[in-house]
Formats: sequence, C-alpha cells, structure tokens
Amino acid sequence: MQRVRKAIIPAAGLGTRFLPATKAMPKEMLPIVDKPTIQYIVEEAIESGIEDIIIVTGKGKRAIEDHFDNAYELEQTLLNKEKFDLLYKVQEPTKMVDIHYIRQKEPKGLGHAVWCARNFIGNEPFAVLLGDDIVKAETPCLKQLINENNRTHSSVIGVKRVPDNETNRYGIIDPIDQNGRSYQVRNFVEKPELGTAPSNLAIIGRYIFTPEIFMFLDKQEVGAGGEIQLTDAIQKLNQIQRVFAYEFEGKRYDVGEKLGFIETTIEFALEKEELRDDLLKFMAGKLDLN
Ligand code: G1P
Repeated sequence: MQRVRKAIIPAAGLGTRFLPATKAMPKEMLPIVDKPTIQYIVEEAIESGIEDIIIVTGKGKRAIEDHFDNAYELEQTLLNKEKFDLLYKVQEPTKMVDIHYIRQKEPKGLGHAVWCARNFIGNEPFAVLLGDDIVKAETPCLKQLINENNRTHSSVIGVKRVPDNETNRYGIIDPIDQNGRSYQVRNFVEKPELGTAPSNLAIIGRYIFTPEIFMFLDKQEVGAGGEIQLTDAIQKLNQIQRVFAYEFEGKRYDVGEKLGFIETTIEFALEKEELRDDLLKFMAGKLDLN
C-alpha cells in the first residue's frame, strides 16, 4: 500500500463560536499566544511526514494564504533592523511545506469540504486534520495514525474518551473489539443525542483514509445538522473495508470553543519562559481577590 503523503485541512467553517472576532478574520488565524492555530496543525502534519497539504478555504479566508506566503516588505524591514529572530518567525511558516488551496463554494458540511479536495488527492491514501484540536504528544498524533495505517493497511480514525455529557458534540464510535489502542468498529454515529451514545470514544479531528472514501462522499446525502457529514461516509466505507479507530496517546486541546481556547492559551503561555513568572503572579493575584 502507498505511503500517506498528502493531507487535507478543512478550513471553510464560519467560526460562529468566536463571533464577532471571526467576522473579518478566519478562526484558523486566532493565535494561541503568538502562533495561529492552523500553524500548529500544519506543523503536526509536517512532523508526521506529510509532503503536500491542501487547505479547503471559503469566503473571508485570504489571511490563511497570506500567512503561509512571503511578506517581502515586512521581511526587508526586519532584515534592515537586524531583527533576525523575528525574521525567522515570519519566514518559518512560508518555508514549511508546499500548501495548495481550494475553495468550498457553499457551506455544505465537513464531508463536502473533504470531497472538494478529491482531485488533489487522486487514488492514494491521505490524511485529514481538523483545526479545532491541537494535540501534544511524544509521537505526533497524525504520525501515530499513520503507523497504525502501516500496520493495518486500512483507514484509521483518531479517537479519545470524552465525558458522557459531551458525546453529543462529536462523532462517536460503537466499538466491537479492542487490541491495545486499536478498535474494530460496528458503527460510526455523528453527534448522537445525549444518553444514546454507543460509547464515549469520540472522533477527534485526525483521520487517515483510503481513496475509496470518495466513492461515498460523491453520493453522500445530508445528515445531522442538515450537512454532508464525513462520519456518515466513514460508516458506509466501514461496510466494504475495515475502518479502525485508534485511541491516540497525548493531550488534546479543544481550541474550537471559548473555554478550551482560553485554557490552551494559558497552558501554552506558561510554557514560555518570558511569560511564565509574570503570568503566574497575575493568576495568583486573581485567586487572592476571590
Ligand atoms: C466534526 C466531525 C465530528 C468530530 C468533530 C471533532 O464536527 O463531524 O465527527 O467528532 O469534528 O472536532 P464539528 O466539530 O465540525 O461539528
């Protein structure tokens, strides 16, 4: 089986949870401390061995393209001022990897966004990374799934346990059999109503697919929330080829909603030497007040 070389990053969503910040700015450009969330995702893809990335964008997403492009004037100014450390930071996202773009012309859902990139992928296995989750792990999360794909030669879906009262926010798996971190799956269910979830193993935005997924995305009808759901196509793929779920190792940060975004920002800031002590003092002051 061919190696996984290409990745799709869907970034066409409206970002309604962060309005009005996302009225004129893509939610993928919201920074965790000083780096846009989408850069963390691109870095994970590269560290996992991905060579070509396609970002599926939509209206109002130009800033993403600009971020991964050269910024001549800014670079020249920094060079003239001999601010080499900043120059490095500005150039880093440009040098990382070849990034391609395609627009999803209508907001028809995640399954449709992935389908939009079908010609770029062609007939080989590929990865999908969603921007709402950042994962910190010894082996990058996507690399763990690629390793599992090398072992099983099958599609592999990243999962993590979530609390029972959050299962309605995710795609949930109905596992049959477990082998270490790997599960065989009976059903993949998109956003089951609370109390009806078959498990609390939730799909967390990292996928490896065989190209056959496009057969189902081609004719996928709308599902939960009136959108074309990727999970529904996975469920159909699982009827003709085994699709494994893999409970990846590492800590997952949900940057797709406000509280998770703030928690992630604080945790990542505490890891920065230049911020840590002052931030701890500030937080201790807040606690004293209560
Ligand atoms: C999407 C998927 C869902 C998955 C989730 C992970 O939902 O449809 O299966 O669990 O991402 O973040 P969304 O968050 O786009 O509604």
